[in-house]
Amino acid sequence: MTTTIAKGLEGVLFTESKLTFINGTEGILTHLGIPIQEWAENSTFEELSLALLLGRLPNAQELAEFDADLKANREIPGELVEVIKAFPRGVHPMQALRTAVSHLGLFDPQAEETSEAARTAISRRMIAQFATIIAAINRAQEGQEPVAPRLDLTHAGNFLYMLTGQEPTAEQARLFDIALVLHADHGMNASTFTAIATASTLSDQYSAIVSAIGALKGPLHGGANEAVMDMLDEIGTPDKAASYITDKLDRKEKVMGVGHRVYKYFDPRSRVLRDYAAHVAEKQGKSHYYQILETIEKTVVDRLGSKGIYPNVDFYSGTVYSDLGIQKAYFTPIFALARISGWCASVIEYERDNRLLRPDAEYTGATNQHYVQLQDR
Ligand code: ACO
Repeated sequence: MTTTIAKGLEGVLFTESKLTFINGTEGILTHLGIPIQEWAENSTFEELSLALLLGRLPNAQELAEFDADLKANREIPGELVEVIKAFPRGVHPMQALRTAVSHLGLFDPQAEETSEAARTAISRRMIAQFATIIAAINRAQEGQEPVAPRLDLTHAGNFLYMLTGQEPTAEQARLFDIALVLHADHGMNASTFTAIATASTLSDQYSAIVSAIGALKGPLHGGANEAVMDMLDEIGTPDKAASYITDKLDRKEKVMGVGHRVYKYFDPRSRVLRDYAAHVAEKQGKSHYYQILETIEKTVVDRLGSKGIYPNVDFYSGTVYSDLGIQKAYFTPIFALARISGWCASVIEYERDNRLLRPDAEYTGATNQHYVQLQDR
């Protein structure tokens, strides 16, 4: 019998979904059939989150109720704040987020319920509470008191306020909102798949989301945006960028923020973010980060474009966050802040017709062996 092994599950369809469509060769991404560029231009993170949960565009009343619901759920239990304050200094914020979300579940009387209604109610709370948790981790790690959420700000604006203690300008809040919209969902990526794999055992929504946080943390997935900023800091100045990248590629090393399992052309999200990064850089007299990125993009596309290697969403996101005054270590938690909506919606959609995920491996190990006593080995 011949078996085909789909390494990395590339091209394997394991379910149907009505949420997100990606055409990697043409660089197309849609949610509910609507292009990502239109979501970024016209919508908000709140609206896209609800649309993903509902599987359709909400009407004005549904959106107003959801918005009020998110605001009402911004507070996190005081006990959790104390736990966050007690985390050791210097832990990676993704470690802290993973632990805090797991802890959050302990305070939710509905945590163990797995009906669609329960998963949806938990998801609506978690979408709101992720912002408060991540901001509290940042403050606690800096030895500062967490900032209480404000109800008069948008989800994005309130997060920036809780993170820094300063109210962002309308432009900053909107820019961050767009970044959240761009990251909210992306089909069956590693972390969404992980969330679904956990929920497919009929485990609870908190367990599914904690699993997803662990999967997002790695540098080949959500951790890439932080790695891009490390690379920019290592390069230092724009004049060194081309030779740095050429040397790296000659050594067959990976350049962070480029390449994608699905996109073999420009990731459409990277184009939207590039335009905003350019706008911010222009306002600030062309920040050196942006100039370095421009050179890297050109060098990579010249050299690897024929192989389908182009900038992905993480390539420009870090500079946008950095211009908003956000520290590098918080870029991946911010990815989670956005992707929580996609994780929750995808799990709920999958659970409607759940089937335990249980793939297989081709066995290539020894056969016909016998146990050898320890003293005889
Ligand atoms: N830098 C240099 N070369 C690359 C890169 C890169 N970032 N990515 C792929 N290549 C090369 C590979 O070395 C390979 O070359 P070869 O044919 O000579 O062996 C070829 O392009 C094909 O690459 P694969 O590794 O097969 O592509 P794969 O689909 O497995 O990789 C991945 C996708 C893991 C994202 C990869 O591009 C990568 O490591 N990128 C850097 C990390 C990154 O930015 N991750 C974020 C992804 S987006 C997200 O999660 C939000």
